[in-house]
Amino acid sequence: MQDLIKLTDEIIEKVSACNSADALNDVRVEYLGKKGTLTLIMKEMKDLSPEERPAFGQKVNDVRQKAENAIASMKEKLEAAATAEKLSAEKIDVTLPAREQKTGHPHPCQLALDEMERIFVGMGYEVVEGPEVEWQEYNFTKLNIPEGHPARDVQDTFYINDQILLRSQTSPVQARVMEKGKLPIRMIAPGRVFRSDSIDATHSPSFNQIEGLVVDKHITMTDLKGTLSQFARELFGENTKTRFRPHHFPFTEPSAEVDVSCYKCGGTGCRFCKGEGWIEILGCGMVHPNVLKMCGIDPEEYTGFAFGVGLERIALLKYEIDDMRLLYENDLRFLGQF
Ligand code: DAH
Repeated sequence: MQDLIKLTDEIIEKVSACNSADALNDVRVEYLGKKGTLTLIMKEMKDLSPEERPAFGQKVNDVRQKAENAIASMKEKLEAAATAEKLSAEKIDVTLPAREQKTGHPHPCQLALDEMERIFVGMGYEVVEGPEVEWQEYNFTKLNIPEGHPARDVQDTFYINDQILLRSQTSPVQARVMEKGKLPIRMIAPGRVFRSDSIDATHSPSFNQIEGLVVDKHITMTDLKGTLSQFARELFGENTKTRFRPHHFPFTEPSAEVDVSCYKCGGTGCRFCKGEGWIEILGCGMVHPNVLKMCGIDPEEYTGFAFGVGLERIALLKYEIDDMRLLYENDLRFLGQF
């Protein structure tokens, strides 16, 4: 019995001398483990007389209980100390300067597209999309470009097979929308187009266009001129003048190319407009009656106008960029300027 009291003191002393979880665990194993001192003492009970056993067992359990309590409270203390130490080591200095965060922003082509969409949506147009991989029938036939027409040349069009190609223009979206038969139509269709061109300052095998189409009763060339002149003023400034030059497109009749007065020199001629005073921005015309007919619309009842704008060209003009390749290189030093 005396030994048991001593043993209790010994355990408590050892526990309180522990300065780490490992050391504490060693003490636990030494006394309470399977081969620990207290376990061995319990085994000696069989040598006692049956009368002595209960009192002895009771005492040993007392010691075990005290040892377990001491270990548990020491464990708590050590853990609290470890947490405190970790927290003070990880303290954040909120006075340090922040790390710079680079935020992205829209590409100049996207900015130009957003601006054009804003202008046309403001005039009541709907924005629609068509497929980049297209039937030759939509890209050509339904646009009054019959077989044998030079626009179909394999030299400048990417064919998948003889019926399917990468669209060379956004104009096929006109045919797709007209065929749906919902009139009147007022839509723009932005998207990527493909041509077998080599890359230079003004050409790329893949670029973007914005197609426009209006079909309704009593649409005339006046509506076309008024709409595109207003568009040019909103895009390039209210003093911008427009000039419609006769041109030819298979799917419009009559057709025109539109120039805007140079917004750098106001039309007197400068380096920016190459001395012309005018800058070409798009192609347009009155929808050809053949196209209306092929898309199921009666040209006696309905008329319309259409136009096609090169997106990159507008971005280059608007942001005074002199080489189209800059738009595709994704050089952040360039892109960061817009
Ligand atoms: N699709 C023509 C091109 O790629 C551009 C164009 C011209 C579209 C006149 C039109 C239009 O809708 O009426 O060169």
